[in-house]
Amino acid sequence: MQPQINAQTLIDTAKMLVAGNKGLLAMDESNPTCNKRFALLGIPQTKELRRAYRELILTTPGLGEYISGVILYDETIHQQQQDGTSFLKTITNGGIIPGIKVDIGAKEMAGYPGEKITEGLDGLRDRLKEYFQMGARFAKWRAVIAIGNGIPSRGCIESNAQALARYAALCQEAGLVPVVEPEVLMDGDHSLDQCYEVTESVLRTVFNHLDSQRVMLEGMILKPNMVLPGLTYPKQETVDEVADATVTCLLRSVPAAVPGIAFLSGGQSGQLASARLNAMNLRFKSRLPWALAFSFARAIQQPALEIWQGNDANVLAAQQALLHRAQCNWEARRCEYSGEWRVGEQGSGGVGEYLNSFIHPPVAQNSAGILTPDS
Ligand code: 13P
Repeated sequence: MQPQINAQTLIDTAKMLVAGNKGLLAMDESNPTCNKRFALLGIPQTKELRRAYRELILTTPGLGEYISGVILYDETIHQQQQDGTSFLKTITNGGIIPGIKVDIGAKEMAGYPGEKITEGLDGLRDRLKEYFQMGARFAKWRAVIAIGNGIPSRGCIESNAQALARYAALCQEAGLVPVVEPEVLMDGDHSLDQCYEVTESVLRTVFNHLDSQRVMLEGMILKPNMVLPGLTYPKQETVDEVADATVTCLLRSVPAAVPGIAFLSGGQSGQLASARLNAMNLRFKSRLPWALAFSFARAIQQPALEIWQGNDANVLAAQQALLHRAQCNWEARRCEYSGEWRVGEQGSGGVGEYLNSFIHPPVAQNSAGILTPDS
């Protein structure tokens, strides 16, 4: 039977996901991705250790103070704590909203060498119904766009945007808030300007398709990349420059009706991701139509995973590290993250320096068309 869903429920859930300066914790790594991260640290790649790791995350005391929603993977949503409590119960008892990744991965795109199309639309309506009945209240679908020689192509951008929009429409029909994730990858030697152009084009295309598929913007969350130079590009802009380029791009391409934007971290260090989120909120908060939040996986989990090492004796220390990164991002939303940042770390331009110099400044535009706070 079709659940009784009204638009207001979707709107309320979307608002809750970005309320209270909290954000999302993505812990929806597919088994191959989770295994890859375990293998790098010498952790055995077994179903039981994946379960134990997810239990570590979900039983972190106080997680719900900073995290509004967690994104699970299909294997995880069916699992329990060692004491038999279902993970879904653990999550809701902690005041957190359960979500679920519903795409089945980015596959090579026929006819488009070097590009990918995300699959998972077939049978999606039934899977969404099942996840809703289990208790999930939001979902995630990730499209990946690579920048390289002659790519991304229009064909790749359009196909991925259309799939994202069809997924989002099905989610809303099923009562799940869609988290729409078009990720422009950091890998490569492209400049920040190239990332800006591609990201803007991708977001405009995604919102055109969301409109065509009649997706209610008030009942969704956008999960984009930050606008960053490629990992191997020689010039790495400062935290403030990244913040200005990212917010400019979003202001020009994301309708004000969207309640929240929750960034992916994409391979940035936890500190950089927090510092950049802090800078965006600090420099632009007074003129943003949407909440600027986070939906990080690696930038919250990585230190905890490195401490845990698959060893029970390290669970408490790992949980502390996880909670710390969650809190850092909550602080970044409040423009209060000054944390572990040091001048000289990738990106330079210490947060501390400008924390003292900008308090909700008015915004001007520089000669390159990028918005900047005009102190
Ligand atoms: P990262 O923050 O590690 O990029 O992961 C976010 C995510 O959910 C990717 O789909």
